[in-house]
Amino acid sequence: MCGIIGYAGKAGAEKFLLQGLKKLEYRGYDSAGIAVLDEDEMQVVKCQGTLDELENRLRQKSLRGYLGIGHTRWATHGVPSDDNSHPHQDCQGRFALVHNGIIENYQSLKAELQAAGHSFCSETDTEVLVHLLEEVHQGDMIAALRELQEKLAGSYALAVVDNREPEKIYALRQASPLVIGLGEQENYLASDMPALLNATRKFHILEDGELAVLKEDEISIFSAAGEEIEADIFQADWDAEMVKKQGYEHFMLKEIYEQPTVVRRLLAAYLDRDQVKLPEVAEIWGDEIDRVLITACGTAYYSGLVGRHILEELANLPVEVEISSELRYKKNFLDENSLTLVMSQSGETADTLAALKLARSRGSRVLALTNTIGSSIAREADAVVDLKAGPEIAVASTKAYSAMLTALYLTGLKLGELRATLPERELLTYRRELLKLPEKITAALNRVEDSCREAADYLKNHSSMFFIGRNLDYSLALEGALKLKEISYLHAEAYPAGELKHGTLALVEEGVPVIAIFTRRGLVSKTLSNVKEVKARGGRVIAIATAGTIEDKEEFDQFIELPACNELWAGVLTVLPLQLLAYHTAHNLNCSIDKPRNLAKSVTVE
Ligand code: G6P
Repeated sequence: MCGIIGYAGKAGAEKFLLQGLKKLEYRGYDSAGIAVLDEDEMQVVKCQGTLDELENRLRQKSLRGYLGIGHTRWATHGVPSDDNSHPHQDCQGRFALVHNGIIENYQSLKAELQAAGHSFCSETDTEVLVHLLEEVHQGDMIAALRELQEKLAGSYALAVVDNREPEKIYALRQASPLVIGLGEQENYLASDMPALLNATRKFHILEDGELAVLKEDEISIFSAAGEEIEADIFQADWDAEMVKKQGYEHFMLKEIYEQPTVVRRLLAAYLDRDQVKLPEVAEIWGDEIDRVLITACGTAYYSGLVGRHILEELANLPVEVEISSELRYKKNFLDENSLTLVMSQSGETADTLAALKLARSRGSRVLALTNTIGSSIAREADAVVDLKAGPEIAVASTKAYSAMLTALYLTGLKLGELRATLPERELLTYRRELLKLPEKITAALNRVEDSCREAADYLKNHSSMFFIGRNLDYSLALEGALKLKEISYLHAEAYPAGELKHGTLALVEEGVPVIAIFTRRGLVSKTLSNVKEVKARGGRVIAIATAGTIEDKEEFDQFIELPACNELWAGVLTVLPLQLLAYHTAHNLNCSIDKPRNLAKSVTVE
């Protein structure tokens, strides 16, 4: 959600900033801009539209200089427009500032600043920051930023440059992510690490309240308490190759095909024939824990819904799943006897972070399953399982979902072991089966690719469709419908198969696509009855099923078959055709697959 980049060095800042913004574009892409200092001359170029638009403008007017900041926007306050794009400037044009987050008290601050004579040219909350800076700055930027901190409510990661200190970038973080990258005779700033992997793997992740000053040959970090502190440098195990498309047309397709590798990597880290390792789960576990809450947003939430079935079955524990943005509005029963599983690819989703804090405040222990070690969620949790999926760039999440499911399978087994709910022989069988999953995922991808293309040719002509299933298959249906909506902009709705007849069946008429999921043998006959109800109204039914689940395939207009698999682990196979259906449908419709309209990868506002 909005990307920030900064560069201080000896090379041209413009080129570095543009390259960095390209890597950050998945965080927002409705407008972009950069500010580059050429000695004391502040040059700002910004515009509505994608980065291509900004590059076009810069072709007409290239910027000289070795230090600058940039921004790619996902609009919150004010429509995408040239004026609302960042960087924003004060009345004198002395400062340029970029921001990610939301300033909750911006209206009252704006009124005060207007009364004091400041004139605004945008509708954004961000512009308040730069005028406020102008108002309070008495010659010392650090003191001015600290004063800002006291006056602001909300979340912000911000970077600011001053034409009277053209060798410095100032950065401040409060509840929105910001990392500093360390180079040779140059230093960098970005909203996340992947944006800087071309330049460095050495990072300091800013903590809430920390303030940083970057120069080409030096960085200084000041704690929330105002003391200068040592940078806490860590070496990322991601590299630049991981953030390239590697021959695929889209990041999403590359990430779909990375799933066997991701699951293999996770299993190699946490499982062998004799045991589920996961010391993180063992450490956090206590015998007094008698229930689990899973909380997350978007695709991570849908993986949690599958996780509920797995954990309940393996660990024999009651599990609730709650959308993070809803948790605080409900009565919850979180306390020291509960375990909260927080799931997040980015580790920065504001709603999920707020849910985590709520759980902790109630005394619940918190285990985070995240793909971003060093993220806010990882740092706030009591224990962390690293999802090891590598950087996920496409906005629509795919490989992180499979990594989450795999981590949930392993967590389920570990809890089963700790609670002694599973006999050793059963545990051994489960572990052996899990170790075979990567091969099955590869086989499944090969097997379903063509039939998904064929089905997508049909789906592209239909503005509305339904995904149905029962129990675990319904949880999978929800993810299938979300994927399709996100990237193809077609309306899709997931329904528990048995519920269709209580209303939604009214929408099924000749040719309406219904995708029916079957991974649980015991539920086939019931879901088949619902399929018949759809067929009787002229609906076109595409089945997605694991081999051996359904004998009679006659009922279906198309049958997409996956390799046979234990019902518990079938989710990680079933999601593959769901992802590919969405991908090929969106491709047929020429949609912007990696950067769907209105969305962003990392949603750092509530
Ligand atoms: C955004 C993304 C989704 C993602 C959700 C949760 O909405 O577009 O793809 O599932 O955030 O993200 P997280 O990083 O917490 O898993």
